[in-house]
Amino acid sequence: MTDKYAVVGNPVAHSKSPLIHAEFARRTGQDISYAMILAPLDGFRKAVFKFRDEGGRGVNVTLPFKREAWDIVDGREGYALDASAVNTITFADGRMVGHNTDGIGLVRDITVNLDYPIQGRRVLLMGAGGATYGVMQSLLCERPGKLVVANRTLDKAVSLVAYFRKFENLTPGGISAQPYQELSGAQFDLVINATSAGLSDAMPHLPDSVFAPGALAYDMMYGRVTPFMRLAGGKAAIVSDGLGMLVEQAAESFFIWRGVRPRTAPVIELLRTGVNSES
Ligand code: ATR
Repeated sequence: MTDKYAVVGNPVAHSKSPLIHAEFARRTGQDISYAMILAPLDGFRKAVFKFRDEGGRGVNVTLPFKREAWDIVDGREGYALDASAVNTITFADGRMVGHNTDGIGLVRDITVNLDYPIQGRRVLLMGAGGATYGVMQSLLCERPGKLVVANRTLDKAVSLVAYFRKFENLTPGGISAQPYQELSGAQFDLVINATSAGLSDAMPHLPDSVFAPGALAYDMMYGRVTPFMRLAGGKAAIVSDGLGMLVEQAAESFFIWRGVRPRTAPVIELLRTGVNSES
């Protein structure tokens, strides 16, 4: 019998998750279906319970429900414990278990697909919202040289850094919060944009001197060239959008649900070019 999965969000029509999971299933011979569920802003819990009661096996959760998902699950595993956000839920034995695969997706895309080790590197993470909470622990587990979180509203970066202080021993240079204007003079090897500014074609006031020679500029957004990517274009050695992260986080969700790890490279290529190079 076909096992049912879905992504729940609002909006959700733009989601590439159904295509990605259908490709993973086809390539690994797994018998699953994967739907899109548009939940009302005040109806996330009801939508998830309904899908489960109709026989669903699990859901992915996208904006703006990742924090609410963390609240409604019966248990949390792995990075979801500290991320305050859940993007993957499994339904089993009457329980809902929450996971967060965003950080793993980000780290795999950077370290494997882009072949850019994070260990020892000076990392600047822009933004202090849900997206940043979701990836902090995974980034710290790569043992960067130091990690600075910059945010327009400094208080939020300060709270976030305090929240993750218990992982500070993973980085010799420590973790700290700074406003953008204080970054001039500092240089970073890896600059990650985890803000939602690109959605409105804006970007934080980032001094363009922050890119060290050979730096990687990574925007967690995909599907458009953001002002951050344009700025980094002339300054960083490598500029990447977040499409690889999207596919990698999906692969980790698929692995959690199915126990099978799909290959990601052909699916990333399919999304980038529209060409299905391997069967
Ligand atoms: P998400 O869950 O996507 O992280 P969020 O929790 O609303 O969404 O957080 C959005 C992040 O993008 C915040 O860090 C926000 O900065 P503030 O905390 O100062 O609001 C940041 N952001 C959004 N638009 C921005 C802009 N134009 N310039 C700078 N930062 C911006």
